Amino acid sequence: MMKLRQFSVFLSFLALLSFAGVSEAANPCNPCSMKTMHNPCNPCGMAANPCSMGANPCSMNPCSADVKKNIRPHAFNSFQESVDMGRKMWNDDEGMGKAGVACLSCHAGFDMLHFDENQNFPHYVKMVGDVVTLDQMINYCLLNPMQGHELAQNSKEMTAMAAYYRSYRMKYLREHKK
Ligand code: HEC
Repeated sequence: MMKLRQFSVFLSFLALLSFAGVSEAANPCNPCSMKTMHNPCNPCGMAANPCSMGANPCSMNPCSADVKKNIRPHAFNSFQESVDMGRKMWNDDEGMGKAGVACLSCHAGFDMLHFDENQNFPHYVKMVGDVVTLDQMINYCLLNPMQGHELAQNSKEMTAMAAYYRSYRMKYLREHKK
């Protein structure tokens, strides 16, 4: 009686072993266990592995010098540098336009910038009657109330103007913390 039971335990142990062996050899659920080199489900097992090709586009570093396209000559080493330049421009009542006013002639004391509404750009601005990005809003005020010239999108001047706007807004938020 005992012997028969031991034998059947031994048999099921054998069955288990062979099942594990089979499933390891060609388990369709595990692409790495498939021995065939042309397993379509396993890109690494294919002979023409695109990742191993010489002209692999993924091996090209977009930051390497020969590929890099600059939007402009390097301008700033830190955010603070751009804010400092922007501050001068926001205070300039001569060089920015013919109207003889500065941005801060109208926007000092956080006036008319709606910082309390905590809105991000783009958004609708009543004076423009349209939805604008921050850069577009800066150009709109340059062209209209300032009677000046618009700034080029990629210019360091535009970056500086937008940087000062951000630091000015952060100042507002610090001072008006609830
Ligand atoms: C003569 C006054 C005047 C001058 C000068 C002026 N602005 Fe404005 N600015 C306004 C008015 C008015 C609005 C629109 C307020 C509205 O419609 O809600 C505005 C709106 C803005 C806004 C958008 C505010 C919002 O709702 O998010 C920005 C940003 C801005 N101005 C930046 C500038 C910059 C930068 C300069 C200088 C280049 C400048 N402004 C010069 C009057 C002025």
